Amino acid sequence: MSTAPRLFSGMQPSADSLQIGNYIGALLQWREMQVTNDAIFCVVDLHALTVPQDPKLLAEQTRKTAAQYIAAGIDPEKSILFVQSHVPAHSQLAWILNTITGFGEASRMTQFKDKAARSGTDSASVGLFAYPTLMAADILLYDTVVVPVGDDQKQHVELTRDLAGRFNSRFGETFVVPEAVIMKETARIYDLQNPTAKMSKSAASDAGVVWMLDEPAVTAKKIKSAVTDDDREIRFDRGAKPGVSNLLTILSAFTDEPVPVLEESFVGKGYGDLKTTVADAVVATFEPMRTRALELLEDPAELDRILGNNAERALAIAQPKLETVYDRVGLLRRPRSR
Ligand code: TYM
Repeated sequence: MSTAPRLFSGMQPSADSLQIGNYIGALLQWREMQVTNDAIFCVVDLHALTVPQDPKLLAEQTRKTAAQYIAAGIDPEKSILFVQSHVPAHSQLAWILNTITGFGEASRMTQFKDKAARSGTDSASVGLFAYPTLMAADILLYDTVVVPVGDDQKQHVELTRDLAGRFNSRFGETFVVPEAVIMKETARIYDLQNPTAKMSKSAASDAGVVWMLDEPAVTAKKIKSAVTDDDREIRFDRGAKPGVSNLLTILSAFTDEPVPVLEESFVGKGYGDLKTTVADAVVATFEPMRTRALELLEDPAELDRILGNNAERALAIAQPKLETVYDRVGLLRRPRSR
């Protein structure tokens, strides 16, 4: 058995492609952290159902998300890469966690409040309300120590910690209390057309979202059309210059150069130079990933085989944990027929 710390993270297959915020806020760290951690990466299809999905597209979006994980460097042999609905223990543990989660506590989750406000609170589903307890189940089933996410997920990981502690004190030591790992500098990438709103797969308009599977020319065009300001100075200032700051953050993530070094390198240059440099850096990284993802998607049977094997590996960890939980809360064990 590995003694490296267990890592768990996931993304929703709620679009055909991941966006650049998913890449910078999550995938980039996943790829590095899988080397030194015992890592598990999940395509959280059950979470995607918390907002309406087209049943004809969801399975394919799930494959596409998995292909993009692999194309971005997740190794499905070293790490475990699987689909959430393939391991029933996730929904089963989520139910148990629902029973120890306060209604008020769940009501305070800002993601729920934001998403419910967007659709109108009355049409938000109970599934959307229970999103965080399913996420807690994902994490707690695997004795996870570290959870690398963007900062919008911090509150959900806090709730997970509370639930783990609460369960342990009520029913006996069962869960490891996990910790969120958030890269401060790149924790939040903003929409290119609306640089005070988080970039999101579900943005109302596509123009400010950079998709990993966009054609390189489309990516470059979107970046070159990013909203900036009337000033000419290339300087990081989230309040006064959100558009320029966002471009500097993106460039920093793609070049590994700290923002102050980048600011220095643009002294005397204009926004056009900045945008061209960002576009070139993003395309240079995304183009080969896009090619690799499309290649993987040409052989769905092989991709499904990888996901099938990995689901077995996840199941082998999750199922015994679920059984312990069922025992701890006092459920009668199913008699095995002979
Ligand atoms: P999802 O698919 O909404 O987001 C996946 C990851 O991408 C990060 N992210 C961003 N980071 C920076 N800037 C942005 N604009 C941006 N948009 C998204 C998110 O923070 C996230 O890390 N609830 C999770 C999925 C999940 C999960 C889990 C994560 C389900 N179970 C267990 C960790 C552990 C989510 O936000 O998915």
